[in-house]
Amino acid sequence: MNVAERTFVLLKPDAVQRGLIGEIVSRFEHRGLKVTALKLVRVSRSLGETYYAEHKGKAFFEPLMSYIAAGPVVAMVLEGDGAVAAVRKMMGKTNSAEAEPGTIRGDFALTIGRNVIHGSDSGESAKREISMFFKPDEIHAYTRIDESWLRE
Ligand code: RTP
Ligand code: MG
Repeated sequence: MNVAERTFVLLKPDAVQRGLIGEIVSRFEHRGLKVTALKLVRVSRSLGETYYAEHKGKAFFEPLMSYIAAGPVVAMVLEGDGAVAAVRKMMGKTNSAEAEPGTIRGDFALTIGRNVIHGSDSGESAKREISMFFKPDEIHAYTRIDESWLRE
């Protein structure tokens, strides 16, 4: 039997400003992923630096800091079998110009610098990112009505 996995998703400021929150969350819900935490927040400079620490020193780091702090973002935790990989596939390639149609970036974005969404790239990253945005009591356990139809 598969074991439900947690991933972290962030809808970046362009997604919020462009009115795409509902459309994107809908895709995850329809796929069968369970929203177990969700909030609208501002990413401060220090949170941005910690969050994207792996990219510090790269040419796109400063533009990335301005982008991520430019407006509110939606942070969420999604749960489901293989959630990390499922979300990465649904997002499409980091560079929206190369993202396949049908993926979130392939349908809603054109460039790498405004690519609408972030999703954890591993279970370890998910753990780290979830703890940066949510306290344990902000993540909710519940049963979806369709849960028994999402796996054999
Ligand atoms: P993310 O972390 O945001 O989910 O994106 P990712 O794993 O698909 O891509 P990553 O390599 O971690 O890059 C983080 C974010 O930095 C911006 N970026 N700009 N101009 C550039 O060359 C460039 N490269 C990366 C993107 O917003 C990317 O999502
Ligand atoms: Mg990344």
